[in-house]
Amino acid sequence: MKTHCPIVVLISGNGSNLQALIDHSLHSNYKISAVISNRPNAFGLERAKRDGIATEVVDHSQYQDRKEFDLALQNCIDKYQPRLVVLAGFMRLLGADFVRHYSGRLLNIHPSLLPKYPGMHTHQRAIDAGDSEHGVSVHFVTEEMDGGPVIAQDKVSILPEDNAASLAEKVLEKEHLLYPKVVSWFAADRLQMRDNQALLDDELLPAGGIQVHP
Ligand code: GAR
Repeated sequence: MKTHCPIVVLISGNGSNLQALIDHSLHSNYKISAVISNRPNAFGLERAKRDGIATEVVDHSQYQDRKEFDLALQNCIDKYQPRLVVLAGFMRLLGADFVRHYSGRLLNIHPSLLPKYPGMHTHQRAIDAGDSEHGVSVHFVTEEMDGGPVIAQDKVSILPEDNAASLAEKVLEKEHLLYPKVVSWFAADRLQMRDNQALLDDELLPAGGIQVHP
């Protein structure tokens, strides 16, 4: 029997993407070895415990600086020897050494159609800009914040009655479908990062990655 790809998931909060990854892992090709939070009270930790998944807290407020925190986080992750590290609502910036250590095996999900709206408050920014569509991107993490090569995107329409909360909800629905899909591509050895570009089945992906919406 083929072994499941061991992954570690990093969270900071609610963990609804983590939940989607847990749910899909039951009939997929990856296994969540541990969930690590930088916030001790992140609800996602409860989700993991409920499913018997190991949990760890590496509380950023207990470290002198980012370098020290990154190193503690790295040591904690590496205890589990994952093939892939998945950022799922992990809200800390990670330093260059950390990112290099996991180069090509560190994924992030971001609630915008990158390269639009890196950083925070993406839903409000899309509304304020008068955009007619918005969405989610999954990308490899590189040293540039939210700037690594995009693997896949899914879109939603912005309707006149939408506000940041309603839009976030619609985008989250797409996130929950997209992230497990991309993780399973990686687990099947179909996904790679080479020369700062994403490849699926040895084919270079276009700048916006694969568009999964109809
Ligand atoms: C998600 O929308 C995710 O895309 C976003 O935080 C939310 C976490 O929700 N991530 C970022 O903004 C990273 N820059 P969750 O905790 O319910 O998965």
